[in-house]
Amino acid sequence: MTPATEVTPPLTLTERISRIEPSATMAVVAEADKLRQQGIDIVDLGAGEPHFTTPQHVKEAAIAAIHNNFSRYTAVGGTPELRDAIVRRHATDFQSDYGREEVVASVGGKHALFNAIQVLVDHGDEVILPVPYWVSFKDIVRYAGGNCVLLHTDESRGFRVTAAMTERLVTSRTKMIILNSPSNPSGAVMSPQDLRAVAQLAAERGIWLLSDECYVYLNYTAERFSVGSLREYRERMVIVGSLSKTYAMTGWRLGYALAPAAVVAAMQKLQSQSTSNPTSIVQKAAVAALNGPQQCVEDMRLEYIRLRDHVVNGLRSIPGVQCTLPEGAFYAYPNVSAFIGRGNVKSASDLAGRLLREAHVATVPGPGFGTQDHIRVSYATSERELDRGLERMRRFLGSL
Ligand SMILES: Cc1ncc(COP(=O)(O)O)c(C=O)c1O
Repeated sequence: MTPATEVTPPLTLTERISRIEPSATMAVVAEADKLRQQGIDIVDLGAGEPHFTTPQHVKEAAIAAIHNNFSRYTAVGGTPELRDAIVRRHATDFQSDYGREEVVASVGGKHALFNAIQVLVDHGDEVILPVPYWVSFKDIVRYAGGNCVLLHTDESRGFRVTAAMTERLVTSRTKMIILNSPSNPSGAVMSPQDLRAVAQLAAERGIWLLSDECYVYLNYTAERFSVGSLREYRERMVIVGSLSKTYAMTGWRLGYALAPAAVVAAMQKLQSQSTSNPTSIVQKAAVAALNGPQQCVEDMRLEYIRLRDHVVNGLRSIPGVQCTLPEGAFYAYPNVSAFIGRGNVKSASDLAGRLLREAHVATVPGPGFGTQDHIRVSYATSERELDRGLERMRRFLGSL
């Protein structure tokens, strides 16, 4: 008898998972890691995270939580103590007045964004997204079935988004406007006047304003501003915040959303069927960060300003490189179009790849953020590392 041949059924993944791509920034980290494992000395200007360590009092709160056996499930959206700490911090810093039922704590700001978009954006809805955009917005919107309508900004105006530019793209299908000020990757900061005008536009037209304020404390202009201070427009607003960058806590995974109670309830429902609560111990650490001394935040901000000036001056001194002055976050977004077409370089992605493999400097190619002529350089590192990276870039670009 002939044995029946075993046929492996083809792997069928869902249509929705095929709508999205892996994060471009994670791809760079993976390739740089591979080279490092081969013993190659890589200067890492690709990472999207602070080089500082988490403040001591925050670490101690987490250790105390472990010793005190704070190790059980908590309320899905975070303990009342944490939710109160988030709204109190925001009220103190930005004159907002959210209540406990208008805040949800999640496993990082990205998780809060994901949940907010899943509960507000439906199939066929349009979402206005300024370019350059942080890599995940586009994919999270696509996963929800929405269509991104790209808002192209002007590099000669520092990639700033204005209310007039936004209004031009509004249609009857517009469901949401995403703003990210300060911006990853450009470092652009919107003026409080423009933020107010977009919030007003959204409220008047019944459109959701999703304001990603993960870098709100890393604003280098005179005026630190959150749309949360615009209480009159809050019915159509979702603010996403994160402890990742503010307190150098990227690996801890704690973010939050401030939104109308019905939106928060829907986000909690979704969270209750996926991650449940953010890690109990991390919630205790987050309370310590939010309620404790804030000098650490200001110290880091001042150091980023110094590093920003250093890296922008260095980049601008490389013949052929043009660079706008970022006003927040910790990224420079130089224009490298002068090198495309030289020495067999076909695109900014190609250039970033060769910078990594030949000059051993990790950066992130601009096409992942929606522009063709740029690379993203993170300056959240020491001045010494920046100098090593700049020198290698100068030599490599000069050789093309
Ligand atoms: C613009 C922006 N939003 C949100 C996030 C998410 O940060 P996290 O999930 O660590 O809070 C990041 C992280 O890089 C970011 O750059």
